[in-house]
Amino acid sequence: MRIDKFLSEAAVCTRSEASKAARAGGITVDGVTVKRADLHIDPETSVVTYLGERVVYKKFTYIMLNKPEGYISATDDPRERTVLELLDERSRRLGLFPAGRLDKNTLGLLILTNDGALCHRLLSPKNHVEKTYFFRSERDVTEEDRQRLESGVILDGELTKPARVALDDSRSGRITVTEGKFHQIKRMLEAVCNKIVFLERIEFAGIPLDPSLGRGEWRELTDGEISRLRSQG
Ligand code: URA
Repeated sequence: MRIDKFLSEAAVCTRSEASKAARAGGITVDGVTVKRADLHIDPETSVVTYLGERVVYKKFTYIMLNKPEGYISATDDPRERTVLELLDERSRRLGLFPAGRLDKNTLGLLILTNDGALCHRLLSPKNHVEKTYFFRSERDVTEEDRQRLESGVILDGELTKPARVALDDSRSGRITVTEGKFHQIKRMLEAVCNKIVFLERIEFAGIPLDPSLGRGEWRELTDGEISRLRSQG
């Protein structure tokens, strides 16, 4: 891979900045200053520095975001604020997109990645990837409602897949589903004549939301979390 491509994919600089830096002696490969940005390197084994900083090649990036209210799960939008705007400038250049959607007023765990194939597998209904939400409802969820939610309600003319509902009290609890239908949890509660007043995703594909992340904060997934994600998709 060419050095300028390597550096721009790592979101360190643009390709033209890489050429300038190379001419100015700002790039080294395996300890040797290189003057040309079109030189080919092995991204897995070459030791590259840019303006004195080591640049480690990562094919894909995986981010955990604690989504706040008021942001849409999209990469750009002419009117609304998008979750991408919560990232720093460098991460915004990595071509990340949300793995699935949370509504504008839903909070919590959103994974952002540029690994399209994994994202596709995680969202495929075939793979039954679990998503768990903490919810508060307007009215009491009775035992009968709980059982109906678990065994399936009709959405879009189809029975929803089996879910798990654990109530904390009569109007709040956790619901785990394996599908990702549009407004799924809100519509499931509506199907039992209730209404969601608060919704937060607390787990996705076996990865819990990191409690140390405040709303709007994010971090890269650990290697363990990435393996977990791969094992689910
Ligand atoms: N279900 C919903 O209704 N909204 C979300 O944002 C996620 C799941």
